[in-house]
Amino acid sequence: MSTELHETARALVAEGKGILAADESDSTIKKRFDSIDLESTEENRRAYRDMLFTAPGAEEYISGVILFDETIRQSSVDDTPFPKLLESKGIIPGIKVDKGAKPLPLAQEETITEGLDGLRERLKEYYDLGARFAKWRATYSISDTLPSDYCIWTNAHALARYAALCEEANIVPIVEPEVLQDGTHTIERSYHVTCRVLDALYTELFDQRVDIFGTLLKPNMVLSGYDAPNRAGADEVAEWTLKCFYKHVPAAVPGIVFLSGGQSDEDATAHLNAMNARGPHPWQISFSYGRALQAPAIKAWAGKPENVEAGQHAYYHRAKMNSAARTGMYAPEMEREAVTA
Ligand code: 13P
Repeated sequence: MSTELHETARALVAEGKGILAADESDSTIKKRFDSIDLESTEENRRAYRDMLFTAPGAEEYISGVILFDETIRQSSVDDTPFPKLLESKGIIPGIKVDKGAKPLPLAQEETITEGLDGLRERLKEYYDLGARFAKWRATYSISDTLPSDYCIWTNAHALARYAALCEEANIVPIVEPEVLQDGTHTIERSYHVTCRVLDALYTELFDQRVDIFGTLLKPNMVLSGYDAPNRAGADEVAEWTLKCFYKHVPAAVPGIVFLSGGQSDEDATAHLNAMNARGPHPWQISFSYGRALQAPAIKAWAGKPENVEAGQHAYYHRAKMNSAARTGMYAPEMEREAVTA
C-alpha cells in the first residue's frame, strides 16, 4: 500500500492544525444563508467560499478543506480553481463523496448513507481535480431504543466500502459516524451508543482490508443530549469521550478530527482543549469543524462584499482558537484578548 496515503493523513493532523468542513450540500448551505437573509445562488455560494479560502493566514491553522461537488469545480475571482488556490497555500483539498443520509428501509426514523454506486469512477475524477482526501458521513439518532444494530452495522459496512474504494484511489478516507446529540439522553447513554458504533465501524474496516494508518476518524464528542437537564461540563465530556476512544479506536489511526455537531463554537473549542490537556494520546486529537469555524464568519460577512475582511477575520480567529485547543493551551480569556488586540 502506498505511503502517499499515510503522509496525507499525517499532514492533515499536523501540529497545531485542523480541517475546515466547507462541504455543505445545497440544502444545508441554503439553511445557513437563510440565517443572513441571502439567496442561495451558485454565485453567492462561490463568493462565500471564496471569502473563506482567500482568508489571509488561515493556512497557519488549517491543514485541509472539505469541498462539495459544486465547489471543487468553482474558481476564485481571478479564475484560479479552488483546489489550486488551496494547494498554493499549502492546504490540502478534500471532497465530500456521500450522497446523503436516506431513510433506512424497514426501519423507523433511522438512516442509511447512500453514494456507493459509481464511487470508484467519481473518486478518479476527484483525484484529477486535486482532492487528496474524502469524507463520508453516517448518522445515528439516540432514543431509549435506537440506534438499532441493523442501522449501526449497515452504516459501518457502507463506511468501510467507501474507505476501501478511497484507498484504492490514493485518497485518504475520513470516516464520519455521527451519533447525533439531539434529545434528552444522559452522557452515559451517548457513551454507550458511540462505543457500539465505533466497535462496528472498526470491525468492518478490518474485515474490508482498509489500511487504518491511511484513514482519519471524524466522530461526535460524547455529550449530554442538547435538551437534557444538568448537562455535563467540559471535564466530563473529555473524560467520557476519551474513555470511549481508548476502548474502541486503534492506535494505528493517525488522528481523530471532531465534528462540532450543534455545539456553540466556544464549547467546541473548550471541549477539544479539555481532551488535549489530558494528553499525550495515541492519536492526534484535532478538529474538522463546519459550523464551529464558520458561524461567526457567515454572520460578519452577511453576504456583503464590503464585509469580506470582517468575515475572514472572524474565521481566522476561530481557526486560531481551535489551534490553541490542539495543545490544551486554550483559555476563554483568549477570545477577548484576540478581539481587542
Ligand atoms: P459541523 O462541525 O457543523 O457538525 O460540520 C462538520 C461536518 O462536516 C458534518 O458532516
